[in-house]
Amino acid sequence: MTRRDTSKSRMLSPPSEVKGMQCLDRSAFRKKVDVVSLAVEENKVGALNRHLRKHTVCMRNLKNIRVDTDGRRCFLLHPDIFSSVDEAKEILSKTEFSEMLNEAEYRLVELNIGYENWTAEEVLRAVLPDEVPNVTGFSVIGHVAHLNLKEAHFSYKHLIGQVLLDKHKNLRSVVNKTDSIDNTYRNFVMELLAGVDDMNVIAKENGCSFKFDFSKVYWNSRLATEHERIISEVTPDTIVFDAFAGVGPFSVPSAKKGATVYANDLNPNSYEALCSNMKSNKVKGEYQTFNMDGRNFISTIVKEQLLHATESVKQHIVIMNLPATAIRFLDSFVGLLNDARDFQAPKTKGIQIFCYCFSNEADYGEDVASRINGVLCVDSNSVTSSQCRRVRNVAPNKDMICAQFYIKWNTMVELKTSDDVIEKKRPKLAS
Ligand SMILES: C[S@@+](CC[C@H](N)C(=O)[O-])C[C@H]1O[C@@H](n2cnc3c(N)ncnc32)[C@H](O)[C@@H]1O
Repeated sequence: MTRRDTSKSRMLSPPSEVKGMQCLDRSAFRKKVDVVSLAVEENKVGALNRHLRKHTVCMRNLKNIRVDTDGRRCFLLHPDIFSSVDEAKEILSKTEFSEMLNEAEYRLVELNIGYENWTAEEVLRAVLPDEVPNVTGFSVIGHVAHLNLKEAHFSYKHLIGQVLLDKHKNLRSVVNKTDSIDNTYRNFVMELLAGVDDMNVIAKENGCSFKFDFSKVYWNSRLATEHERIISEVTPDTIVFDAFAGVGPFSVPSAKKGATVYANDLNPNSYEALCSNMKSNKVKGEYQTFNMDGRNFISTIVKEQLLHATESVKQHIVIMNLPATAIRFLDSFVGLLNDARDFQAPKTKGIQIFCYCFSNEADYGEDVASRINGVLCVDSNSVTSSQCRRVRNVAPNKDMICAQFYIKWNTMVELKTSDDVIEKKRPKLAS
């Protein structure tokens, strides 16, 4: 028997009349299909199921084996393979398990199927015109599904929202991104397509839960692996500076691991959520939260903590996840500790930076490294392309990159510019 390709299944597809539907009418999906049922004794079901499973009706909310009134078990055979009783008999008589079917009874039965038997993807494929791409991917943030629809979907957007709500029981709201995310706080401008207008969500990530208003702050579930990657580098003797912390997906798990965390975000709504997420996750490490501009954060809070770094601190990590502009903030580190008279540099390489940015270049490593070096302007601290890692593709020809490198202590105690080196009250460096 050839294996059934369900993607080409015709008999069990929704009725063709639903094509182009813009207002969801679930009753229009009702359909009757004749299928061959194969009735066998109960004790044969297990063995036969191994042979027949892939050739039976396989639909949501529908059992492929039914109990008949006489107690026999009936396999519902797939109508695209077995269009009639005679065809079923002929095909099955040639199989290696035909002997098991000696006592089997073949019947034609009428199957009533409907909206509840198809997945969201199947319903939407049936409704959307063939030239319109299907809606296959969306992000889930707590009870909210977040879509990024194309213009071709717009006439169907409320139907799309309702279908997703019907088919995914964990969802209570479906929203669509209506604008590109280029505002300062990186939150989405969104439109409610279906469900309740409540964007107060609880998202779970890396063993922590995050409560926030999704309409007012930045959150991207696709960054979970990236967050985890950085958190895995954090130890209890790490100091983490999270300059653009959002609601805390780097900071909260880091503090939970016992690191000392200084987390900052300019958006008052993010800051509020960050503070309450730190509290509600009962983090072990010491932490402080700030609501200021990243540059100000570096030149005051980061500076203050670096000046007081003790030998027990094994690493300083600075996370800068503001991909559109983070590179521009790097110059704040050059000469940061210049006016510190008695500064003793710890015996570490320097502070480890995780700087996120975007690149449109095929050779993203070269592109990002040269942009960073252009800002740092310190030859002894130059970043190489191998220190730049591709995180994810965000748009055609646009990647999110993470540059991971050290800013050495002497870069922070020598103020340098691109064309000159200006030395100010240069402090002592530890040998
Ligand atoms: C891309 S989000 C990253 C949030 C979080 N770190 C994450 O990984 O999900 C950037 C964050 O930077 C904040 N932000 C934007 N401009 C800022 C600035 N000048 N100073 C501090 N935070 C800023 C935004 O409010 C936003 O929460």
